[in-house]
Amino acid sequence: MVPRVINIGDLREQARRRLPKVVFDYLDGGAEGEVTLRENCRAFEEVTFRPRHAVAVGACNLGVRILGHELSLPAMLAPVGYSRLMHPGGEAAAARAAGVAGTGYILSTISGHRLEDVKAASTGPVWYQLYLIGGREAAEGALDRARRSGFSALVVTIDTPVGGMRERDHRNGMKELLSGSAFAKLPFLPQILLRPEWLAAFLLDGGLPKLENVVIPGQGPMELIDVTAALARAVVTWEDFQWLRQAWPGPVVVKGVLTGEDARRAVDAGAAAVVVSNHGGRQLDGVSASLRALPEVVAAVNGQAEVLLDGGIRRGSDIVKAICLGARAVLIGRAYAYGLAAAGQAGVARALEILRADVERTLSLLGCPSVAELNRSYVDVPDAWLRPAPARI
Ligand SMILES: Cc1cc2nc3c(=O)[nH]c(=O)nc-3n(C[C@H](O)[C@H](O)[C@H](O)COP(=O)(O)O)c2cc1C
Repeated sequence: MVPRVINIGDLREQARRRLPKVVFDYLDGGAEGEVTLRENCRAFEEVTFRPRHAVAVGACNLGVRILGHELSLPAMLAPVGYSRLMHPGGEAAAARAAGVAGTGYILSTISGHRLEDVKAASTGPVWYQLYLIGGREAAEGALDRARRSGFSALVVTIDTPVGGMRERDHRNGMKELLSGSAFAKLPFLPQILLRPEWLAAFLLDGGLPKLENVVIPGQGPMELIDVTAALARAVVTWEDFQWLRQAWPGPVVVKGVLTGEDARRAVDAGAAAVVVSNHGGRQLDGVSASLRALPEVVAAVNGQAEVLLDGGIRRGSDIVKAICLGARAVLIGRAYAYGLAAAGQAGVARALEILRADVERTLSLLGCPSVAELNRSYVDVPDAWLRPAPARI
């Protein structure tokens, strides 16, 4: 991997150079005015460190236990839909890099590689993220396959009753490019022709992949083009959790929790873990940064489930701050997806290497010997963050 890549921002720049604008903006962009997208990153800047100097901590221990898995880094790879459009290696390449790095991978329902192949690619834990886009029967089929091939947890995303309004996708013609009509694609083709390396790899990979893990009974894998419409018919409600707990006997993780109330509902619904997340600022614009919501969720969960966080993590110091505020570990989305888009498995490996070195250095500079010993006393947060939220009426 290019040595000039020294932080995640450099990987982002490489992704921007390799991808057609439509694919880069799909990866990079957020919903509406992208306020929450920006806030996710900015919130980390509001938290400052309180280091303990003149202590010799030696080699720092980055290990963490998540749902029974020992990980060597407190960061797992979040589900990122359409990964195979970013690079032919797609989900399998990302899962492989996660395993090599000693961490876990979460496979999105919106995936172009068969879930069995993704599981086989990784030596680490792999979880399955569910959208109900093909209906309950298709979901039961996927869950059955996931269980038999060794996926160890089910992640249910609750913040996507409809797709968010990603304005960049509309302007760039994402829908048209995924559609079957050559005529509709025409005005948007120049941006693709400007990226011949990506185009050659995409065509050699067979063009638009199908959704290999959404198999509609009697019809086969769903076409990629149907996703936005299908999402609008795929809302998950708390009532669905009873059925889900039967369809999936293993641990369930609820992703997309931003309030203490929803955290409690997730625990009551049997969640083994919750992910404090606003979908990387891609759904409801104007919700708070996920880091900002973390203390409220940690308090509401009160140790009855594991708490993970995602949104805005671009440096290892962000990971450390989230753990100081009560997260057991984090998920990273764009930080590894930029790497995947830039250079496939090697790019994801580089992203993880950068973050690992960051976390290790941050712990040393803080005077803290291990991730397990991080706590609130290592950070200062703005007073407003600690005020109790108004009750829901
Ligand atoms: C391109 C892209 C596609 C995503 N697809 C999914 C998905 O299919 N399912 C899901 O639950 N979350 C999805 N997410 C949200 C991520 O899982 C995660 O919550 C988010 O990326 C975290 O923010 P970050 O990118 O700032 O790290 C996606 C995010 C991105 C950037």
